[in-house]
Amino acid sequence: MIILTIDTSCDDTCIAILKIKNQKSKIGDARFDVLSNIVSSQVEVHQKYGGVYPFLAKREHQKNLVPVLKKALRQAQGKQKFEKPDLIAVTVGPGLEPCLWVGVNFAKALAYSWNLPIIPVNHIEAHILANFLNTKYKILNPVRGQRSLAEAQRKQTSNGVNTKYLLPAICLIVSGGHTQLILMKKIGNYKIIGETRDDAAGECFDKTARILGLGYPGGPSIAQQAAQLKLKMKNEKLKISLPRPMINSKDYDFSFSGLKTAVLYDFKKRPASVKTTAGKPRKEYIREMAKEIQQAIIDVLIKKTIKAAKDYRAKSIILGGGVAANKELRKQFNYKLRTINYKLNFLVPPRKFCTDNAVMIGIAGYFNRGKASKNWKKIKVDANLRI
Ligand code: KG4
Ligand code: ZN
Repeated sequence: MIILTIDTSCDDTCIAILKIKNQKSKIGDARFDVLSNIVSSQVEVHQKYGGVYPFLAKREHQKNLVPVLKKALRQAQGKQKFEKPDLIAVTVGPGLEPCLWVGVNFAKALAYSWNLPIIPVNHIEAHILANFLNTKYKILNPVRGQRSLAEAQRKQTSNGVNTKYLLPAICLIVSGGHTQLILMKKIGNYKIIGETRDDAAGECFDKTARILGLGYPGGPSIAQQAAQLKLKMKNEKLKISLPRPMINSKDYDFSFSGLKTAVLYDFKKRPASVKTTAGKPRKEYIREMAKEIQQAIIDVLIKKTIKAAKDYRAKSIILGGGVAANKELRKQFNYKLRTINYKLNFLVPPRKFCTDNAVMIGIAGYFNRGKASKNWKKIKVDANLRI
């Protein structure tokens, strides 16, 4: 089975082509062969706005889709000859409405000319299922009752995904538009147990990066500044300390908009010595602040995710979304999960499959193949689609 997949939910134009082998069982035996995976980034277009400008993003998707499709087909044909795909999977939400429509209409045009069914895909489910891409799971702590790590690994990887050892799981989806804790009982069975009440974690990185005069997307630029600090002596004189919003609240919700305000006020109250003559923050201050922003976000995400996993007696923690590409977050999750007195598997996709891509749409499409329909005229987008 060959699936062609499309995601235009935000500012990346993504098309992938996947070959799926051994589709005997419902979950266990799928092997995903990525024949091509093209991501055309619009970073340069949105850079000057410090965030995604929806109508510019829509225009860029319209410009990019045909060349991206050509490239994806050419690459895939180089690995495997095929006349046309068997299925098309496309993101229908959540995301920026004008952008989603571009992808969905493109999918419909392809489905019409190739006479194919379309599978509508939820972008958040796709971020979760990115973890199910033939991963040799790195199981930090085998779940209770399993004799050894080796045994757990053998059971999990010898034959694709053996969800018995992984689910129920608590999924933390952290992206530019979402921060959600999701209880996953099965593939296809999800319940949002908490989410941000205002800004998403990625949005917080993006907005605070902008305050500091760093480039978009903010996550990678804040991470880069914070990492540079490690090489230098910490400047104790600055003593930057940001709040950890809602870290001890009893629910599983988040709030990140206060951090942005805290960064703004901290800079305002600083003496001239941390500012350039143009009134911008100096390098040292930027690095200290970047490190503290990153740490404040990480502290809250880790604490609340582990609390949810314990409360719901989960077997695993599953990460997804652009912020899950953050090296410190991955490292500190790893470390923390080794030290707590509760056994949990830890799944996080390779970094390139954390940020938006169409491979994850193919995986989600495969698990939702029952929804494939040639009656695709009815398919609509939903900018606020819930999982
Ligand atoms: O999942 P994604 O690619 O798109 C959405 O669905 O929103 O996530 C994009 C978000 C941006 O806010 C970006 O700043 C953040 O993910 N991000 C990161 C990193 N890479 C991307 N945040 C922290 N550290 C990173 N390395
Ligand atoms: Zn995303």
